Amino acid sequence: MRNLAIDAERLWGELMETAAIGGTQKGGICRLTLTDLDREVRDWFKAKAEALGCRVTVDDMGTMFARRPGTADVPPIAFGSHLDTQPTGGKFDGALGVLAALEALCTLHEAGYETYAPIEVVNWTNEEGSRFAPAMVGSGVFARVFTRDEAHAKQDRSGVTFGAALDAIGYRGAEPCGAHPLSAFFELHIEQGPILEAQQRDIGVVTGVQAMRWYEVTITGQDAHTGATPMNLRKNALLGAARVIERVDGIGRAAAPFGVGTVGLIENKPNSRNVVPGEVFLCADLRHPDDDMLDTMERRFEIAVADACDGLGLGVTMQKIWHQPALRFDPDCVASVRAAAELSGYSTRDMVSGAGHDAAYVSRVAPASMIFVPCRGGISHNEVEFTSKEQCAKGAQVLLQAVLDYDRKLAERGRATKNG
Ligand code: GLV
Ligand code: MN
Ligand code: MN
Repeated sequence: MRNLAIDAERLWGELMETAAIGGTQKGGICRLTLTDLDREVRDWFKAKAEALGCRVTVDDMGTMFARRPGTADVPPIAFGSHLDTQPTGGKFDGALGVLAALEALCTLHEAGYETYAPIEVVNWTNEEGSRFAPAMVGSGVFARVFTRDEAHAKQDRSGVTFGAALDAIGYRGAEPCGAHPLSAFFELHIEQGPILEAQQRDIGVVTGVQAMRWYEVTITGQDAHTGATPMNLRKNALLGAARVIERVDGIGRAAAPFGVGTVGLIENKPNSRNVVPGEVFLCADLRHPDDDMLDTMERRFEIAVADACDGLGLGVTMQKIWHQPALRFDPDCVASVRAAAELSGYSTRDMVSGAGHDAAYVSRVAPASMIFVPCRGGISHNEVEFTSKEQCAKGAQVLLQAVLDYDRKLAERGRATKNG
């Protein structure tokens, strides 16, 4: 069989073209989920896929599926990622996975290559969880981890619901989310960490994803005049938050090198120069590849919050809003990724993902796995995030070959069932 090759220039061109939708001055992208910019990139994706002869369907979480038919009547092999970004996101987180899948599909189309299973490119809604928490809510509903109604009721920080935002951009589709069986799912992504670059490997064969939990904490003190309120009479919620932030960092450091702990969002009220802060809202993110170790980190965190607030006479409410256990990807899908990298002669390394990904939720309802490519300095969730044209192309080539390898396995199984 002729070795199909993706077009590196075309892929790079499309990455740069779509990066202009929400492009920032510092060279990144700000394309929050379910905004007008998200609609614009979705419209772009739909038009491209339809030009390749695909049928594009949308589910009632806004997730988009672009299908190229196969020869057999079996569920599609899907591949893709997400087109939403962080507020100061880079050009590759998510976009690479969707556009590389589109490029792979285009390669099949141009070669007139017939697959056994239909092939689908997927754009999952709200992977980032930046505007609507938690992250990966489109794939989460797809995998029945959250209900659709629960997800639609989520509010952004200005009170707009997910459902209203979906309607506002016209992407609430007719298909019930989850009513869409897949034979398998593959996701290409930048590593978002430093390992592949440091070890000069082309491809990360991702065997699993670490466990992660998010917490929302509201600390309540008392607004007071900064000039007239003696130090011993204050109930400074921001000081309590500062102590929590320090302790979360310490919890991560104590669990190094695998554990990590971060407070990444904080809202201080009333946020005025001459008011002792009366209320702070903050979000903490704890992760570890081992669920038991994450339990220990969680207990330390609960103690840290209580210590910080009790010591300052502050009130506190705390809620765990997200919990994703550690997971291992499907061995057959992982084997297809490995075989695909070997076929192309690329160097590899097995790894566990530190970031969350849609493939993690999808793996609960379909065999799934991921491919990583290096990114410069391991930097991501940052406008300077960078992966070279060659690295993107290698990832896309492995993605295409992994899907074809899995398709051959499906076809063999299909024939064996027929003959047996
Ligand atoms: C998603 O990007 C996450 O890992 O939080
Ligand atoms: Mn991502
Ligand atoms: Mn991200």
